[in-house]
Amino acid sequence: MTDRIETLVILGAGGDLTARLLLPGVASFLDSSRAQPITIVGVDRDDTTDAEWRAKVESAFAESPSALGRKVAKSSRYVRGDATNADDLKSVLDAATGRTAVYFALPPAVAALAVRALSTIDLPKGIVFALEKPFGTDLKSAQALNRLLETMVPEHQIFRVDHFLGKTSVLNLIGLRFANRIFEPLFSSENISRVEIVVDESLALENRAGYYDRAGALVDMIQSHLLLVLALAAMEPPASLDADDLRGAMAQVLRATRPWRKNGTSSRRARYGAGSISGRRLPAYVDEDGVDPSRKTETLAEVTLAIDNWRWAGVPFVLRSGKALGENRQDIVVTFKDVPHLPTGLTGIPGPSSLRISLKPATLDLDLVINGEGDPFTLDRSMLHADLGAPELSAYGEVLAELLECDPTIAVRGDVAEQCWRIVAPVLAAWRKDAVPLETYPAGSLGPSAW
Ligand code: BG6
Repeated sequence: MTDRIETLVILGAGGDLTARLLLPGVASFLDSSRAQPITIVGVDRDDTTDAEWRAKVESAFAESPSALGRKVAKSSRYVRGDATNADDLKSVLDAATGRTAVYFALPPAVAALAVRALSTIDLPKGIVFALEKPFGTDLKSAQALNRLLETMVPEHQIFRVDHFLGKTSVLNLIGLRFANRIFEPLFSSENISRVEIVVDESLALENRAGYYDRAGALVDMIQSHLLLVLALAAMEPPASLDADDLRGAMAQVLRATRPWRKNGTSSRRARYGAGSISGRRLPAYVDEDGVDPSRKTETLAEVTLAIDNWRWAGVPFVLRSGKALGENRQDIVVTFKDVPHLPTGLTGIPGPSSLRISLKPATLDLDLVINGEGDPFTLDRSMLHADLGAPELSAYGEVLAELLECDPTIAVRGDVAEQCWRIVAPVLAAWRKDAVPLETYPAGSLGPSAW
């Protein structure tokens, strides 16, 4: 058996995720220096013909039309089948050639049913599973899914996908922290007063009510993406970037992480009202198609977390993400503590220095306090700015490249997925009990005015 995947089976081939993210990710991989031929098999319940499916693959590949991409699109096949039906899955797998990966491009509850169906049939040797986020719908369902998966294939054949771990700017945290003496020794409660990880989006619901209205900002973004970014920003130095070492270091720091107030009330939530973004009028979230207002789904979530270990005790990690906001921002802001003593005679101190690591666009800003122009003893701010190199692959392309090469380093390990649910569980419980008010902000604003 080869070490790489020869057939990629996509369950949920007709879905939005396949067209919007997965197929363009495959195209990015096929267009890269890591490209390898693969056969794509799309599976869904619709009566799509091979020709229609190929047209869909070709159109998703249109932005990276490599010669190999065109060949792969032409040779791809479509199979009508129900992803939750064992017989349908068996015939798809029987017809697959070489080592096979099954990508569950399905909502979490359907993915769990598909896994259950697969657990009843004989699986081909070396089969790899790729499961999208959110993995499960809460801690209990994630644990149950993990226990079931463990009976089917070894952990290194399970890829819990989180495309934030495919972003070069996120992976850069490893090099930035552990290849620079000037940062790593400073990364602790000794020198840092606060860390913020923020993903603010101007995108609104984008016709995703079916999924989003049940997830909300906390589960959609913080439970998965932002906690994994926290893990890379706060973990201990791993000995190597082996899947075991890196994922072990991430798991260790997440095990020490909890809401700042253990009952989950160190959090805030809000939902957008009507407003406008870049001249585009937007209805209130509750008036969007498919939204059930009684679910009280938040479109902006903020959680303050503590990390109970020697390095980080006492430092708040504030994670925030929201939609329909007036600005697009994806960054980590590390605020340093004040110096223990400022030489008497230096004046005009403009606050502490900070490091801003922007994930999109990938930039780095070190905001330093230095002697300003004019009076040399009056302090001022000066920014050291760097643009980080452009990645060869898109985030999904990176995730797929690792999947097709069967390297689980940037896949989310089972225990890590469970930790992420455990961390947010008290917050979800506090919100269910209405212990935290659901605030409102106009679409296009920067959030509730009091935030
Ligand atoms: C997805 C979320 O996982 O990530 C979306 O479901 C969000 O709601 C997206 O918009 C953000 O990803 P990116 O790659 O645009 O930063």
